[in-house]
Amino acid sequence: MNTGIVELIAFGLVAIVAGFFLLVSMVLELAPEQRRKWLLGIGLGTGIIAFSLKIGLILLFSLYPGPMLSLFPERQHEYAPSHLPDGGRHDSSLVKTPYTWQALPASAPSPGDNPQTAEKIRLGRMLFFDTRLSADGTLSCASCHEISSDKGGGDGLRASIGIGGQQGTRNAPTVLNAAFQKVLFWDGRATSLEDQAKGPLINPIEMGMPSLDRVVATVSGIAEYIEPFAAAFPAQPSVTIDNIAKAIAAYERTLITPDSPYDRFVKGDSSALSAQQIRGMALFESTGCVFCHSGPNFSAASIFADDIPFRLFPSVPDTEYEQQYGFTDDPGAAPDHSGSKPGIWRIPSLRNVNRTGPYFHNGSVASLEEAVRIMARVQLNKSLSNSATDDSSIHWLPGDRRLAVATQQALSDSEVDEIVAFLKALDGDLPPLH
Ligand code: HEC
Ligand code: HEC
Repeated sequence: MNTGIVELIAFGLVAIVAGFFLLVSMVLELAPEQRRKWLLGIGLGTGIIAFSLKIGLILLFSLYPGPMLSLFPERQHEYAPSHLPDGGRHDSSLVKTPYTWQALPASAPSPGDNPQTAEKIRLGRMLFFDTRLSADGTLSCASCHEISSDKGGGDGLRASIGIGGQQGTRNAPTVLNAAFQKVLFWDGRATSLEDQAKGPLINPIEMGMPSLDRVVATVSGIAEYIEPFAAAFPAQPSVTIDNIAKAIAAYERTLITPDSPYDRFVKGDSSALSAQQIRGMALFESTGCVFCHSGPNFSAASIFADDIPFRLFPSVPDTEYEQQYGFTDDPGAAPDHSGSKPGIWRIPSLRNVNRTGPYFHNGSVASLEEAVRIMARVQLNKSLSNSATDDSSIHWLPGDRRLAVATQQALSDSEVDEIVAFLKALDGDLPPLH
């Protein structure tokens, strides 16, 4: 909690104690003896109610950013124009504190019950590329998550094609850096890579195996897996579905790209980004993209963030894009994920996003420029215009006799290009040997 709030609460407590002593001395001085207890009771009760109301109000205010937080003006950092390469032209009404950029760590953490070992990673890699794990022997994980290509861990299709040529309705998200995401799938229904890996094997329109037992039986029947399982799981060398999932997850934890130009820039190589990319980086912050695509993995749904992994998309209803791209045809996460309406989606990472098109859960948008315009419009309520007059809007507040000027209301084509140039700096190669 904000230290200002703690101070206010402490001040309230001191005031209530002081007030009570004042009341005691007045009552003792003035009130007749038989009414003293009664008056003291009322006094104390009123004090406690007032104090609780005050705490309630403070907590309420602290939940809503914006003007209420100016209760603590010394703690509100205004955007210093010098932080921006363009001298503050993009001062935003949304982002008040300068955002701290972070590089991706050089390795992904693994859960306590599935530590990384070279043997397990090797086994996981074999399984990931093995088409025998699908019902008709045609598909492996790598069919839809192409590692060794420019598809950046996806398949480049609008929606993936599973066994028998069946097309699903969702786009294959990249497996690169999925190790850093707190919840997986577009709707966030899996909470670990181990948990996730079992899904596609028995999904009838993905690898289509009739059951997890059948997967285990298939792998057990392949002689070349005997030695790798024994090496990866010395304590329990048998083929089980949990061991299969653990090995695949261990391999996926190596599929990370911590050496993008962006990471090199953040770690101190100021020549790693072009001037256009740095302008795009500033816009990515000041437009408000960092509200959701934050932290080292550009996602508030990552293990680095203590934040809700889901957001409503589109959050501005009834825009021209919603109909055009059918964004609401798929209801997304079941409402119980966030407690409210459908249309709740996990915030995706933007690493390697330049390589992972087409975009969004239904893969309906082919170009990254268009994806950026859509985000600005439907998540941040910006307009898209090249006219400088559209960039700010002026509101007269008659009660206060003040003018409120909201800046950066529109993104121009060149600003969209700058953001896209910055997003391209998030492309990174896998470490060798994949
Ligand atoms: C037929 C194509 C296809 C195959 C085969 C496939 N996947 Fe996927 N994968 C997808 C699609 C589509 C999604 C998104 C589904 C959704 O969100 O509902 C996905 C999601 C994922 C995700 C979540 C990524 C994220 O950021 O949320 C991971 C990890 C993943 N798959 C790993 C695997 C593994 C491991 C295998 C093999 C056991 C596999 N996939 C096989 C198409 C495929
Ligand atoms: C309020 C939260 C929020 C904000 C703000 C936001 N995004 Fe998103 N973004 C999302 C969610 C949620 C999705 C997934 C939507 C879906 O289901 O397809 C997404 C998807 C994307 C995608 C597609 C990723 C993919 O793999 O298909 C891109 C690109 C993107 N955002 C860029 C941006 C940019 C650039 C900005 C700033 C202009 C921005 N976002 C602002 C929440 C947000």
